Amino acid sequence: MERLIIQGGRPLEGEIRISGAKNSALPILAAALLADGASRIDRIPHLQDITTTMELLGQMGVGLTVDEHMNIEVDPRDIRECYAPYELVKTMRASILVLGPLLARYGQADVSLPGGCAIGIRPVNLHVDGLRQMGANIEVENGYIRARCKRLRGARLVMDLVSVTGTENLMMAATLAKGTTVIENAAREPEVVDLADCLNRMGARVSGAGTDTLVIEGVEKLNGVQYNVLPDRIETGTYLVAVAMAGGRVKLKDTRPELLEAVLLKLEEAGAQVSTGEDWIELGMSRERPRAVKVWTAPYPGFPTDMQAQFCALNAVASGVGMVTETVFENRFMHILEMQRMGADVRLEGRTAISTGVAQLTGAPVMATDLRASASLVLAGLVASGETLVHRIYHIDRGYECIEEKLAQLGANIRRLPR
Ligand code: EPU
Repeated sequence: MERLIIQGGRPLEGEIRISGAKNSALPILAAALLADGASRIDRIPHLQDITTTMELLGQMGVGLTVDEHMNIEVDPRDIRECYAPYELVKTMRASILVLGPLLARYGQADVSLPGGCAIGIRPVNLHVDGLRQMGANIEVENGYIRARCKRLRGARLVMDLVSVTGTENLMMAATLAKGTTVIENAAREPEVVDLADCLNRMGARVSGAGTDTLVIEGVEKLNGVQYNVLPDRIETGTYLVAVAMAGGRVKLKDTRPELLEAVLLKLEEAGAQVSTGEDWIELGMSRERPRAVKVWTAPYPGFPTDMQAQFCALNAVASGVGMVTETVFENRFMHILEMQRMGADVRLEGRTAISTGVAQLTGAPVMATDLRASASLVLAGLVASGETLVHRIYHIDRGYECIEEKLAQLGANIRRLPR
């Protein structure tokens, strides 16, 4: 298997471009299933999760054309089957995002249940319950969600928990339902807003995106669209933490500072100098070590769980005692044990990682079981003495486009070793 080899200790300097957001591109590709015509989605990041989604759509008979810039044309007009097999869903939970569109547009969907995953139990009961309330007949048998309906009807849905893909699935389904759907306690993540914007451009009537109440008036049909996905705020945040840890000055272009206010505030608290423009963020770190910070994850606009592991890495080398509390997922600390192997002084108390920063981590062979945890180990490797070998980097390739190329462009000593 491929690995990343990192020689730590170099500051980061220069400029890089941020890619399109994975968690926007995935629902938007699924939304293209709702249209009566072809859509062209631009600024899709070149990632394994996107390849998996294309495989999923391709198996259904959806026409796909990709150009050299990863702009993807999705044409659902010759769809043959409304089926998401276990083999694909087990590698990418976001496959569940086809459930709402398939059911709303074609009246049927057979989608494998995702099962547990490395960061928690992650059920999909909110997706299923919401669709049932909209009139779908849903059975779960042989590990599959088998959903059928004539035409979904609008309903008032109150989500027990804030769920990003749950909100997205139900919002997509509601666009073609008969009547009005209200989703209370909806997720407010920028990726939900991006999807709502895209749906509205397709002819949907979604209002309230970015607040916790979404109102969707169902329409008879949706058109194909040309749409640009928004920048990846988690990729942006990950590189910012890298500079805050390694020192130096880096400008990230093609991003949007207002998408990550909670993260920028914590970076400033850690001692970084942050300046921003409409579509760029520059971070400079002149202190020898960052200051440890306290972080509490929460749904947007709170501090994102997808940045939690990276801040654990920052606290590991910071001066002082840091605390990172995870409230969204129940088991998202797989990186802690690996960081301990690199010399971090960190312990877990319930859902809180408490660390006393050390002046120097030491390189080690490490691996992680999820995407953001793997990224945090790369960050630790950038500041550790000696060599860090990150295994199982297929996790990183699910969510970071060319991570070693972008970091090398900033002066890091990092290479991919072939299998
Ligand atoms: N939950 C339920 N029932 C449901 C749905 C969710 O109990 O039906 C629980 C989950 O188990 C979790 C909480 O609700 O404890 C929130 O989960 P959510 O549904 O919001 O997560 P998700 O939609 O499955 C998306 C992102 C994740 C990100 C989370 C939280 C996509 C494709 N994935 O997942 O991204 O961590 O929201 O912000 O949008 C990543 O990119 O690395 C990643 C894991």
